Amino acid sequence: NLLKTAGLSSLLYPDPRGEFDLRREIAGNLSIARNFHCHPEQVFVTSGYSAGLGLTLRVLGLEGQKVWMEEPGFMLTRKGLELARLNIVPIPVDADGINVDYGIKTAPDAALAVLTPGQQAPLGSTLSLRRRLQLLEWAASNDAWVIEDDYLGELQLEGRPAPAMASLGEGKHVIHIGSFSKTVSPALRLGFVVVPADLVNAFAEVAATLAPAPSPVIQVATAEFMREGHYIRRVRRLKRLYSSQRDALTAELCSRNAQWVNAGLAVLLRLPEGAPDVRIVREAMTAGIAPSPLSAWFANPSWTVPGLLLGVATAPEQHLAKSCQRLFEIIEGYC
Ligand SMILES: Cc1ncc(COP(=O)(O)O)c(C=O)c1O
Repeated sequence: NLLKTAGLSSLLYPDPRGEFDLRREIAGNLSIARNFHCHPEQVFVTSGYSAGLGLTLRVLGLEGQKVWMEEPGFMLTRKGLELARLNIVPIPVDADGINVDYGIKTAPDAALAVLTPGQQAPLGSTLSLRRRLQLLEWAASNDAWVIEDDYLGELQLEGRPAPAMASLGEGKHVIHIGSFSKTVSPALRLGFVVVPADLVNAFAEVAATLAPAPSPVIQVATAEFMREGHYIRRVRRLKRLYSSQRDALTAELCSRNAQWVNAGLAVLLRLPEGAPDVRIVREAMTAGIAPSPLSAWFANPSWTVPGLLLGVATAPEQHLAKSCQRLFEIIEGYC
């Protein structure tokens, strides 16, 4: 019955690029939510961002070449790039996102840049328009690729989300990767890659042989979820819920005179220089609190800054005061 409901009673193999209904819903949502107009044929459904990155690296085949990577940046991206045998060049991030000038000065010959332009992971800054244009110009004149990791999509708590970087210019060098992990659930294991028209055939070939789309049952259900408007309502509800959880958390931090800044779906609690954030987190975990140590997001030890990223999605208000009290006791034991 499940198979029938999902329209899967056929014995034919599913489309390795993904179910067309879902690809159409994803393209439709990108055009409304990310101001990014693409054709469903450019969309490839994957098992989350990580499988999208794997598919993309397989297609681009850049083994042995240099790649710009945000510093601090997402550790699974770093590990994935290493496994694909790329040479990572860490590029610092500031309030305007990745420092493109630094990248051009340090590694103008890189073949790829992987970044989170919407809300930088982990610091939350948005890549400025000036830097976006500069990055695209560099990519065009060096025949380099840009992977846009848009894992939070329109799920932004402060202000209006900037359009997807892939929407700028002719979009010939940007590969856009999205995920349903934050907007629906990581357990769905669903994401997508939107590729420039020139790469559609190359992606289709790898999807058909080495990296087919995940189960069509999940895809068809997600397409319906989107078509009926539940997805948009869910993102709106999450924004309200997370904003209120973040306000409660920051009020708690203010009452303790802590130094903090908003950082995407987290609040970054600053720690004194040299504070052992990894050890603090290890102890906090035994008390049921699971912040992420900022230092773990750096590749270059001499640039490392300590801090604790407190996730707002997992900070339910009823335990907040007690958890903060315990966390600050642990921090005091180390600083
Ligand atoms: C920077 C970044 N990219 C992507 C993801 C999502 O990855 P996936 O879709 O594989 O769950 C996350 C999740 O935390 C992330 O922090």
